[in-house]
Amino acid sequence: MPLRVIVGVSGGIAAYKAVSVVREFVRRGHNVTVIPTGSALRFVGLPTWEAISRNSVPTDLFEGVAEVRHVALGQQADLVVVAPTTANMLASLASGFAADLLGTTVLASTAPLVLAPAMHTEMWENAAVQANVESLRRRGTFFIGPESGALTGDDSGVGRMSEPETIVDFALSCLTPQSLEGKRVLISAGGTREPLDPVRYLGNRSTGAMGVALAGEARLRGAQVTLVHAHLEVSPPSGVELVSVSTAEEMHAAMVALQPAHDLVIMAAAVADWRAKNPSTQKLRKADQPEHWSPELERTPDIVADLGQRKPTGQVLIGFAAETEDIASEREAAARMKLDTKKTDAVVLNLVGERVGFGEVETAVTLITASPQSLTFEGTKSSVAGRLLDALPEL
Ligand code: C5P
Repeated sequence: MPLRVIVGVSGGIAAYKAVSVVREFVRRGHNVTVIPTGSALRFVGLPTWEAISRNSVPTDLFEGVAEVRHVALGQQADLVVVAPTTANMLASLASGFAADLLGTTVLASTAPLVLAPAMHTEMWENAAVQANVESLRRRGTFFIGPESGALTGDDSGVGRMSEPETIVDFALSCLTPQSLEGKRVLISAGGTREPLDPVRYLGNRSTGAMGVALAGEARLRGAQVTLVHAHLEVSPPSGVELVSVSTAEEMHAAMVALQPAHDLVIMAAAVADWRAKNPSTQKLRKADQPEHWSPELERTPDIVADLGQRKPTGQVLIGFAAETEDIASEREAAARMKLDTKKTDAVVLNLVGERVGFGEVETAVTLITASPQSLTFEGTKSSVAGRLLDALPEL
């Protein structure tokens, strides 16, 4: 269904990239009204916005007074995106200024508000700017970016506006039903690292992408999310509480401590099953070790099994099973066993290998519950994560 989207544009050089944001919304069939500020129009002119949005572009608070346009646009909008959001615009939105058409439109709208900040690193990190971001976040405003990369001058750092397609994807996902509103969700992600000595460790190929996607999708569905993460190769989503750990032992302690305060617990981390029994406190020198060296390993705690034992009534606990058997029915049978042995309410089965299942790739997972029927989802990790969360009421 076409949505009524307002794209507010404030006066930063990234306004030229906002043209592609508008174009992408239009390409996906939505009805876009662009509201540029006076300074935005110094970067990109009115004809460009009108041609790309295929709609007339209101700029003046005192135009269209008969249709009460200063509030009508906001009242009718399904989604409001401001890209780029400058430091000045953040201050104005955080204070609720209604000095121009974009200000009145934002105040009159109850639709999700998505901001894509763009500014120099020093400005983004300034305490006043961060206080405005925090204040807007607390009121439910969604932020996408800024990202790290080349800035307008010769410098680079955090402050670059996210790519247009990323902004559009994110903004549309903010319209997701708030099915986890009021729920507290605890998710583990990433690969643990078990030290052999101060510089070497036993690790695994996990990038943490699935746990991070689940955290982001749970947040978008209104949950209050805590992400306990070991080593990640992807950025954690904004708006979730982060607890950083390194080893299985540390993750075990964090998860057990946090478990009672959460309604849903998902163990998506790739936890090492073994660790060195006696890690060296000094770097092991090659010259001192024999040609064939077998460090003594011991089992790490099985975190999800322990959480299963301690599970409070009403809590939903989900484990993952990364299986490598070629035959689907054998993979499913192995995963189904974990429902009982680990006392989980569901197991998410995925196939992993050298190039399958790890990282920001397309994935396929099967959700296994006590029901003999299982559900399989395929797609990007974000879409699979979203569909897994949407299937939870069936538990
Ligand atoms: O038995 P297996 O390691 O395949 O089970 C995978 C599930 O168990 C995942 O949810 C993983 O996060 C969890 N796990 C754990 N503690 C371990 C090893 C795995 O919680 N020591």
